[in-house]
Amino acid sequence: MKIAVAADHGGFLLKEAIKAHLTERGCEVLDLGTHSEASVDYPDYGRACGEAVASGHAERGIVCCGTGIGISIAANKVKGIRAAVVTNEFMAEMTKRHNDANIIALGGRVLDEATALRLVDLWIDTEFEGGRHQRRVDMLNEM
Ligand code: RB5
Repeated sequence: MKIAVAADHGGFLLKEAIKAHLTERGCEVLDLGTHSEASVDYPDYGRACGEAVASGHAERGIVCCGTGIGISIAANKVKGIRAAVVTNEFMAEMTKRHNDANIIALGGRVLDEATALRLVDLWIDTEFEGGRHQRRVDMLNEM
């Protein structure tokens, strides 16, 4: 599975840890930056990840900023993107099961690394339920 990752300075260190973890899992990683802790603007990175997933260059994406919020808002501006901020295991699982989230957003200043990696694994390993949830996802895609 090819996963795009992107972060601003607030999520840079977490993005690096996620990249290493994904590689260990056998995923192909498309790193869209940023590449240091120098201050950058999260909208650029959220959009880059959204576009990589929407265009099919990556199957899914993971974005990180300080909270996960700003960069998720940016990713969600791209048509076809369902980016979800997740802060616990229930959210990580349910956003795949019900929303078929194609991007998750994590906060580098919110989550410790071990928790974040657990959320990544849960989201990757959970299946979308389809059925009535497919209809709702279709409605999102129409917006
Ligand atoms: C950057 O300081 C911070 O605002 C950003 O990382 C993010 O938390 C925004 O939502």
